[in-house]
Amino acid sequence: MFTNSPTQSITLWDKQIFVKRDDLLDTHFSGNKARKFYHFLVNDFPHIKYIVGSGSAQANSLYSLSVLAKMNGWQLDYYVSHISEQVKSQYTSSTASQTNYAKSLENGANVLAIDWQRQQFSDCEHLDDAIEVLKPQYIERYGDKVLFVPEGGRCEFAKTGLKQLAAEVLEWSKATKQNDVVVFLPSGTGTTAVYLNQQLALLNASNDIKVQVATCCTVGDESYLTAQFSQLVDDVHLHPIILNDGKKYHFGKLYLPLYQLWQEVQQSTGVEFDLLYDPIGLSVLKHHLNNPIFADKTVLYLHQGGLIGNHSMLKRYQRKLAKTNVRKVERG
Ligand SMILES: Cc1ncc(COP(=O)(O)O)c(C=O)c1O
Repeated sequence: MFTNSPTQSITLWDKQIFVKRDDLLDTHFSGNKARKFYHFLVNDFPHIKYIVGSGSAQANSLYSLSVLAKMNGWQLDYYVSHISEQVKSQYTSSTASQTNYAKSLENGANVLAIDWQRQQFSDCEHLDDAIEVLKPQYIERYGDKVLFVPEGGRCEFAKTGLKQLAAEVLEWSKATKQNDVVVFLPSGTGTTAVYLNQQLALLNASNDIKVQVATCCTVGDESYLTAQFSQLVDDVHLHPIILNDGKKYHFGKLYLPLYQLWQEVQQSTGVEFDLLYDPIGLSVLKHHLNNPIFADKTVLYLHQGGLIGNHSMLKRYQRKLAKTNVRKVERG
């Protein structure tokens, strides 16, 4: 369970690309979370009764944590900076069951917005700071029955699942005689990319095949991502290569050219990618496909799932497209 995803061959921009279909690992855990939360899926935690997570009210990790909590009979308290009226309305609308937020509430999660006006949060700049303020209260109440999961699953526990993924990639490379492979994936916190690269290097210590991880930023810039890598893996030689397409993106913002690229890829390959991370990943991949980093190498794109979030992203794109078309008509 939660392992051995298939690898599929597609042709994109006249090049053969392999896609590791982690999106097919499980319907409840988007591929990325199936790997990062693998540790919690395959080990027993008899003393745990509560989990505390944080992030966005629309995040894949909220939904995956809510499923994990439900499976284990744990109570999930998930903190967010803010819950917009639009997100709240998803819970009561007819499409409710299709969003991460609504599905998580259905699973019994407590999604709690931090009340930034409260004195106890007055020195906090970020959500992480607020969690640090709340931690002692949880520990006082529940002792070692409570487990804290950092935003996006950015923690040591993620290594267990990424070691498994690294083993699968190496096994596939050996079985199919691919001797020089670049695994490409878009990063958020960078946890997946840096642990995958580290574990590939450790498992392949004899270096009988070359497998390198390359990634791009979707949150923050390259210095942010490098700092994230360093927090998890000290040795910079084990950090993935960071690529860009020459453009700056803001996480979660809509970019019509990226939407068009996403559509083009779906139409030509039949594979649905996620609409938050993958459009940037695909654009960076396209930009570099004929550069030395990818040319003459086997390219393995890691599909990290996240497709539940596509429902609300598609709605946002449709609204943006409608507005753009109205403006075009008005301009004549
Ligand atoms: C679908 C998807 N792709 C990519 C990522 C980025 O993973 P990481 O934060 O480990 O870089 C995430 C993580 O939240 C995700 O859900």
